[in-house]
Amino acid sequence: MCDSSTTVCGDHTTANQLRSVSSYEQSYCVDSCEESCLPDVTYVTCSGGVSTSASNKESQPLLKRMDTVDASIVNNVFPDDPEFTAIVKDAENAIDNCVYPQRISQGSSGSYFVKNSAEIPKTIAVFKPKDEEPYGRLNPKWTKWMHKLCCPCCFGRSCLVPNQGYLSEAGASLVDRKLQLNIVPKTRIVKLVSKTFNYSAIDRAKSRTKQNVSDRFPRVGRHFHRIGLPPKAGSFQLFVEGYEDAYVWLRRFEDDPLPDNIQKEFQQQFERLVVLDYIIRNTDRNNDNWLVKYVKEATNGEVSPVNPWGSPKKQPSIKIAAIDNGLAFPFKHPDEWRAYPYYWAWLPYAKIPLSKEIRELVLPTLSDMNFVQELCDELYDLFKTDKGFDRHMFEKQMSVMRGQILNLTQALKEGKTPLQLVQMPSVVVERSRTEPKGRIRVMTDAFTQSFQQKTPFFTWC
Ligand SMILES: Nc1ncnc2c1ncn2[C@@H]1O[C@H](COP(=O)(O)OP(=O)(O)O)[C@@H](O)[C@H]1O
Ligand SMILES: [Mg+2]
Repeated sequence: MCDSSTTVCGDHTTANQLRSVSSYEQSYCVDSCEESCLPDVTYVTCSGGVSTSASNKESQPLLKRMDTVDASIVNNVFPDDPEFTAIVKDAENAIDNCVYPQRISQGSSGSYFVKNSAEIPKTIAVFKPKDEEPYGRLNPKWTKWMHKLCCPCCFGRSCLVPNQGYLSEAGASLVDRKLQLNIVPKTRIVKLVSKTFNYSAIDRAKSRTKQNVSDRFPRVGRHFHRIGLPPKAGSFQLFVEGYEDAYVWLRRFEDDPLPDNIQKEFQQQFERLVVLDYIIRNTDRNNDNWLVKYVKEATNGEVSPVNPWGSPKKQPSIKIAAIDNGLAFPFKHPDEWRAYPYYWAWLPYAKIPLSKEIRELVLPTLSDMNFVQELCDELYDLFKTDKGFDRHMFEKQMSVMRGQILNLTQALKEGKTPLQLVQMPSVVVERSRTEPKGRIRVMTDAFTQSFQQKTPFFTWC
């Protein structure tokens, strides 16, 4: 693969110029890879907005995907992460010992607190099955059911790929890990079975019948592929202890301001939340979808949340956890009724310019095109596991993400505030692969930047 650098130039000074577009090309050698290629920078014009490229057919696999999630096969093993594998195993053991996941009453999806197998079971994770998502087939919450029934025209978020919230949860965790933000509790896709999950009457009846047959005729029962209820694929997020919803703390901070050193620490954590949300274009960042843990004076032996693996720290500390990331990775910027703003943009912390610390943490990687492509590739490996995966949609999701990264790098370089960042024009950076004619076969990734012109009707909700 060739060394490459990128140049993005564009004329975007006035609203009328939103249609101006720049593109840059990144070249890859396909055959003789020793040859070093410099990026080819060209300017093209396009009509703006998201193009509906039929050219994407080329990127579609010729054979049907073989690696999608078959929910009936349970293999919750993560070779790169034995610690996480052990936690999931513990949860499975607990379920085998009748310590079942418990549905969380809050929220709009079927989400469950998963326990461990200790003598006194402790919550260790939050599991959100794909089919119990807000508009999933088996969502158990009546509010969403009513919504779907009474207002079908405006249900769901038109900018999101439907029913892929669990992938978005795991994708947010992936972005968090890649950028070393450390604010998203680790989240991966696992498959679990529990009678406390919401199953259809048919699934329950099938399972009961098979069990009865198997009990009466064990020889017949041996031929059943599966006797119990079907496993559910979903996001499994580690539970963080001692945290409370952000809105609770934000109210407390108004009456009882933080000491200066803690305020600085909080601001740095807040900036990480801004970076995460902006990159993944979270459409659901209310102040009850992020948590805060504030340890005023760690008591003897208590482990500080900022140093969970090291020796106990006595200093006060503050930490943010970004949970509920299921409504992110849109395939277009919101452009219909609602803008789905980041609610943190109205906080006083959003009026402070992004710090040197956050710039040093993320700017070098985000400015590196190879890093961004690697991030897209890893998200691809994750998202393609879904049965409804659509390559074309995925490319659009990545176009939005690349646009967000472009704005963010610009904002970091210019020392903008988070509030100024969210006011930047919405950009998409589309990738197209071309193979120019000629003797040397050089695959070219062309990136085309365009500004979205259509804005949503309501900008405040
Ligand atoms: N990883 C977590 N650690 C600790 N508490 C959590 C975690 N995830 C969720 N919660 C708690 O569960 C509540 C509901 O979770 P959330 O992810 O917001 O679900 P929903 O998608 O249903 O809104 C949160 O308000 C929070 O109190
Ligand atoms: Mg929530």
